[in-house]
Amino acid sequence: MKTSLICLFLIIVSASLKSQGVIRGPYMQTPTHNSIIFKWRTNQNTSTKVWFGTDSTNLNQVSSINNNVTDHTLTLTGLTPNTTYFYAVGNNSGILAGQTGNHRFKTNPLPGAETPVRIWAIGDFGKGNAGQINVKNSYVNYAGTKHTDVWMWLGDNVYDDGKDTEYQSKVFAYNGFSDIFSWLPFWPTPGNHDYNEIWAQSSFLGIPYSNLPLQNHVGPYYDIVDVPKQAEAGGYPSQLEVFYSFDYGNIHFLSLNSEVYDIANTNNGINQMKAWLIQDLQQNDKLFTIAYFHQPPYSKGSHNSDDIYELAMTKMREKIIPELENFDIDLVVCGHSHVFERSYLISGHYGFSPSFDIPTMMKNGTNGNFTQGNAYIKDTLNNNDEGTVYVVCGNSGSSETAPALNHPVMAYTDGGSNAYGSFVMDVKKNRLDGKYLKVDGTIGNEFTILKKNLVLSSINNQVLCQGDSINIQANYKGGSDSLKYEWLPTNYNTNSVYIKSNSITTYTLKVTDLLTGQIDSKTFNVTIIPSPTITAVNDTLFTQQGYAYQWYFNGNSISGATNYYYAPSQSGNYSVELIQSSCSNMSPILPYISLGINEFETGFSIYPNPVKTKLYIKNDLINNWKTIEVTNVEGKILLSDKLKPTTTEINFSNYAAGIYFINLSNSTKNQQFKVVKE
Ligand SMILES: [Fe+2]
Repeated sequence: MKTSLICLFLIIVSASLKSQGVIRGPYMQTPTHNSIIFKWRTNQNTSTKVWFGTDSTNLNQVSSINNNVTDHTLTLTGLTPNTTYFYAVGNNSGILAGQTGNHRFKTNPLPGAETPVRIWAIGDFGKGNAGQINVKNSYVNYAGTKHTDVWMWLGDNVYDDGKDTEYQSKVFAYNGFSDIFSWLPFWPTPGNHDYNEIWAQSSFLGIPYSNLPLQNHVGPYYDIVDVPKQAEAGGYPSQLEVFYSFDYGNIHFLSLNSEVYDIANTNNGINQMKAWLIQDLQQNDKLFTIAYFHQPPYSKGSHNSDDIYELAMTKMREKIIPELENFDIDLVVCGHSHVFERSYLISGHYGFSPSFDIPTMMKNGTNGNFTQGNAYIKDTLNNNDEGTVYVVCGNSGSSETAPALNHPVMAYTDGGSNAYGSFVMDVKKNRLDGKYLKVDGTIGNEFTILKKNLVLSSINNQVLCQGDSINIQANYKGGSDSLKYEWLPTNYNTNSVYIKSNSITTYTLKVTDLLTGQIDSKTFNVTIIPSPTITAVNDTLFTQQGYAYQWYFNGNSISGATNYYYAPSQSGNYSVELIQSSCSNMSPILPYISLGINEFETGFSIYPNPVKTKLYIKNDLINNWKTIEVTNVEGKILLSDKLKPTTTEINFSNYAAGIYFINLSNSTKNQQFKVVKE
């Protein structure tokens, strides 16, 4: 009997476990360099558990919550940056989904890392139709094995009303994106159709509340997403999921919200968003900035930004675009119009389309095609508004027949009943490529934004011993993969130069970014410490002037002998070392035979020696010695005079410290005496 009961119990438990299942997801939100959020829905209340690890066959780490829910949310923390993990989800009874090669995620690189980034954007897709699936498949085929770093949702993520049941059937179900949710987190923004349900909960006679406080923006969209509120992935905290920002590598993203407009025209919501985005952009130091929201500022697709009832489009253009351009952001990506439209590089256009003034608002009127030499080049080293490209990609599941598509800011458009597609961005170093990927897998249009951002580091002046050489490396920030180096006046054109000590003393490193044409240069000097030579003049040894010295006698340093000259008092082997910075150059040895100290001829006395101010020459042989000359060590005559009858006074006050010679002569004799000026 007992055994039967236990068997019955096990059968019931087993049946219960078998009937448990995941009916939504798992999907992922807010990946950062060290964390990620998992979400999934089960058909029964269960606890929450994630198994994960870097080996798909060994999910050796777990995180769990002992709750009892159907909508599961679990955040993994403490992850390693830029690392692929595999996972499974379930509950305390076991795994319910995952544990396949496609259940994986890759943590973000460290913030600010200059890493290549792939971004995929889709708009107005959530119809659960063939167009939606075909667009997804066209991208999956296009991407191949290339990792997608950021998947951007542009709003109207589901039709018609943003209901949870619609999300379930058209987004999370198999005919939606169920096969890519397991490895591709998304970064959403809501559209007006997502807001139908949000506003439906707070409407009167079918009209949305005006001035709906932002904290009251609740509903299925906000239940489904978990986006940063506290700058968990970079940016500035918005405190809300209504709008937010994040960083990936060297790119800053702003997910704005075009549904915060206010029919009563109080502008409370849009002003709150504006105040936040200014704070956000003030702290932004990333090279590229991309904003995305649903309702575009410029369109002549299925929505016309010139129509007076397009309140959200007008508000975004008038209130938000000037602020974004004030921070010189690069790209604005929207949906809403069920077409593809891509603008020129423009700025300052905040009115209806007839007010677009080409001379003042068109920054670059080419097609932006890199291979045709038309890339849009922006200079990050000034604070000018250099222009922004505006993209409308509202055709990732929606299409419209015969839209006008004639907005004057647009460089390229695609529309029509079967004109489905998505927008792909690739960022590498200072280059951003934007591509319109048509549903047939072809690229309908592409443009490139390049940044002049090359900054060379200063190069220290160098000191080289004569005969030595040094390798100097170019250090820099920014620039593209195509840099041209010139080390002038040498012929080196690599990223480092090999300098031998020779007569050249000034070098210039000139680096050209071949993609942007930007040039930066740095000049540095090379001081060459010569190999010293010793010259004996009379009884004094001299070497080159202008350095630090140490004299040696028989290989031993001579205490205090640190001038460029030295007067030996004994015979022996003398040498001198020239010293500067890290260089010390030793002279050859000079054998020196002392001639003895000069003895004054009878009748002279010269004093004091060394002299500080006045030197006296006492002369008892006035008739025999007539002239006096003072010369320096280079033989230059500094003073020429006649000897006075008894004592001659010579002022040394103005002479620099060093060796001088007193030359006395008459018609038949001359004699030289050495004097040291202190
Ligand atoms: Fe829309």
